[in-house]
Amino acid sequence: MKRITIAIDGLSSTGKSTIAKQLAKELGYAYVDTGAMYRAVTLFALRSGFFDDKKLKKSLLLKTLPNIRLKFVPNEELGYAEIYLDGENAEKQIRTMEVSSLVSTVATVSEVRQFLVSQQKQMGKDKGVVMDGRDIGTVVFPDAELKLFLTASDAKRATRRYRELLEKGDEVTYDEVLKNVQHRDFIDSTREDSPLTQADDAIRIDNSDMGLQEQFERILGLAKRVIDRSSK
Ligand code: DC
Repeated sequence: MKRITIAIDGLSSTGKSTIAKQLAKELGYAYVDTGAMYRAVTLFALRSGFFDDKKLKKSLLLKTLPNIRLKFVPNEELGYAEIYLDGENAEKQIRTMEVSSLVSTVATVSEVRQFLVSQQKQMGKDKGVVMDGRDIGTVVFPDAELKLFLTASDAKRATRRYRELLEKGDEVTYDEVLKNVQHRDFIDSTREDSPLTQADDAIRIDNSDMGLQEQFERILGLAKRVIDRSSK
């Protein structure tokens, strides 16, 4: 069977990573969470004191950017790879509200995007990859054989994210989470460099009222059809 590239883009908190992980596991493909890379750069900037309140000191970040080492290390127990920032597992620290509230700003910086996109292209060069993000089908892999664009209502997305954060013990309010989700959508969709848009050939899936299993079966069906077709 031919191995393909699967690009999953969409608004924040639409469950892109959940479906991407499931799909990668089922197909025996690698999974790459590109949002984790933008989050790790944001964590690095935070720790380095490159934020003055919420304002990013861009020139300081650009000076050190080439030295930031990001790596995905497979976690056998979880069944997917986790992100390491300068040798340290950063999965937990990159998912706090603080990082979530600053990451879209970092993702507007073109030099950061170029730095990460070239690594993403490298990671997917041999195909057999499921990559999720905002610009995978439009910029990173415009030739991906299967492109999906996930959406869901603001309220559904905020509720899902709110529950996740509560489960992790974060002290947040629903309103804060809703505002963050909407704020990120706005910045991600209106930035100049590679804004979040649906690729012309992407399949749009609104999962507001779809169960995880239903969504998985639908997407797996799509993937198998494309793989079959590409293998002929
Ligand atoms: O998928 P996520 O919510 O973890 O992504 C965090 C942020 O990173 C998101 O608000 C926008 C940015 N991002 C991006 O600009 N391009 C990508 N390919 C992935 C994420």
